[in-house]
Amino acid sequence: MSFFEEIGRRTLLTLDAEKAHELGVRALQTGAVGSGKVKDTDRLRVDLAGLSFPNPLGIAAGFDKNAEVPDPLLRRGMGFSEVGTVTPRPQDGNPRPRIFRIPEKKAVINRLGFNNDGPDIVHGRLSKRAARAGIVGVNIGANKDSADFVADYVAGIHRFADVAHYFTVNISSPNTPGLRDLQAADALKVLLTNVTAANDEAALHLQLDPRPIFLKIAPDISDKDIEEIASVVLDSGISGVIVSNTTISRKGVEGHSNADETGGLSGAPLFDASTVVLAKMRRALGPDLPIIGVGGITDGASALKKIRAGAQLLQVYTGLIYRGFDLIDEVKTVLDLAVRKEKLKSVADLSGLDTDQILETCSA
Ligand code: FNR
Repeated sequence: MSFFEEIGRRTLLTLDAEKAHELGVRALQTGAVGSGKVKDTDRLRVDLAGLSFPNPLGIAAGFDKNAEVPDPLLRRGMGFSEVGTVTPRPQDGNPRPRIFRIPEKKAVINRLGFNNDGPDIVHGRLSKRAARAGIVGVNIGANKDSADFVADYVAGIHRFADVAHYFTVNISSPNTPGLRDLQAADALKVLLTNVTAANDEAALHLQLDPRPIFLKIAPDISDKDIEEIASVVLDSGISGVIVSNTTISRKGVEGHSNADETGGLSGAPLFDASTVVLAKMRRALGPDLPIIGVGGITDGASALKKIRAGAQLLQVYTGLIYRGFDLIDEVKTVLDLAVRKEKLKSVADLSGLDTDQILETCSA
């Protein structure tokens, strides 16, 4: 990180968290952030779901809700970008303040509530960049006041099928009441049946291949939930699972200022819980179905742990708030080194090496 980038990052941490985020997005838009410093080697490339990711680290949903900066993020070294969550109608979200930092714990609590510019604006931005290289996924959700959540996801698929390289079906935000109920097996079956049918229809209409679909789940689920979700996912034919969204738990931040704010907790204190759910999901899904690991990646070592727990791809958000974009370079360097050290060919070969060990430790 340059001297000026470091000063900028430190200044941002003194501002209101949402204001700081907006300034960060502006900095990306104006080109102030620059290019990645670590090359994407063949060892870092991950091929899955018909897509070829130049490296396994992507930006998690919520950072670029409105598709303002997918290309600057890719230029800065991300292997893929995910925009959204986008809902069928634009939405203001909850009143501010609604993002709270817990700096001592490298954590954040947010209760944004799916604020977004809506599909017309987001689709317009994605259409403009459609000819450019780089994988951009679209994370879709439901409006808070929707009478039919399933119909909202179906609408999202139809609206973005021509510009999304993949879809994330986000049913795990704690900030839209009732949304996480879609994780229950019967509701999930109905949702995924409708979403995959819409995806096939849209593909036929556009004469394109159906888009890969990933399901994004919460970390606050039981072992029984994990088994049931895995079984529905495997039956549904979707491409994979994203583990995980933010947690409603406050484990690891109790007693710290802002810890009692309502919302989802992200960052370092989420790492263990989300990684254990990831390992359990890997065991339940078997070795093949892709998992994107997200939650509490703050350095190269934690990124490597997520891969070894069973992820093929990674995403990060809160870690960038505390570490800046140099975190991207560090993660890529550490993963590349790990592949060489283990005398493997690619980062994909590291995936799942520690699943059993993590499961043994957490049940001990
Ligand atoms: C998020 N996250 C999120 N996820 C999602 O699917 N849709 C969204 O709109 C948002 N919005 C959002 C806003 C803010 C301010 C934060 C901090 C997070 C969740 C995010 O994508 C990720 O799953 C979690 O934050 C865990 O990863 P980190 O932050 O610990 O790397």
